[in-house]
Amino acid sequence: MPFDNVIVIDHPVVQTKLSELRETSADHRTFRSLLNQIASLMIYEVSRDWPTEERMVQTPLEKMSGRVLCKKVTLVPILRAGLGMSDGVLAILPEARLGHLGVYRDEKTLEPVSYYQKLPPDIADTEVLLIDPMLATGGSGSAAIAYLKKAGVRTMRFICLVAAPEGIKALHAQHPEVPIYCAAVDRQLNDKGYILPGLGDAGDRIFGT
Ligand code: PRP
Ligand code: URA
Repeated sequence: MPFDNVIVIDHPVVQTKLSELRETSADHRTFRSLLNQIASLMIYEVSRDWPTEERMVQTPLEKMSGRVLCKKVTLVPILRAGLGMSDGVLAILPEARLGHLGVYRDEKTLEPVSYYQKLPPDIADTEVLLIDPMLATGGSGSAAIAYLKKAGVRTMRFICLVAAPEGIKALHAQHPEVPIYCAAVDRQLNDKGYILPGLGDAGDRIFGT
């Protein structure tokens, strides 16, 4: 079932890498590498409608009018697992600044617990990309978006790898204007709040914990 304001990046190369990454047999090195590769590919779609401005370019042969992105970009990974997508985004947008939001899910209540925040002071004037591979109950993403709004951010995009329908509904109940970009919408959550079929615990698979 399609959701409003959810963009599923169903590019065949992204889908191939996602299937490889879901495999239990993918070790940390493989998992990290594939996650960053997918993040790089997703950024093409996410940034498709960003504004550009004219810049004069001197080629070896003549002057021409080129176009360049006209807004700064701030990447905000939700710690820890969001870090697993950061390098992939920075490979495409190396000039982006990074903010960090530390949020973990309490294992029993599944409620988000915020433990760290550091953002660039002028974040509100930039294109903001909030990243986290998993959107499960939506608690962590919603808490991070609420913090960014309190910091003055008016528009942002949420980028994840796998989203659960429950998490999409919960996040959009609080923040309907924030577009969600993902590579897949999976079936459902299990009774422990894990996404099915999902890929397991993203942080543990990235960091080997
Ligand atoms: C994972 C994931 C998200 C959150 C999603 O983080 O990276 O941040 O769970 O779940 P939710 O939508 O139900 O809030 P986790 O709490 O495992 O912390 P970690 O990244 O430090 O491993
Ligand atoms: N966090 C994860 O890392 N995986 C899930 O399936 C749900 C939340």
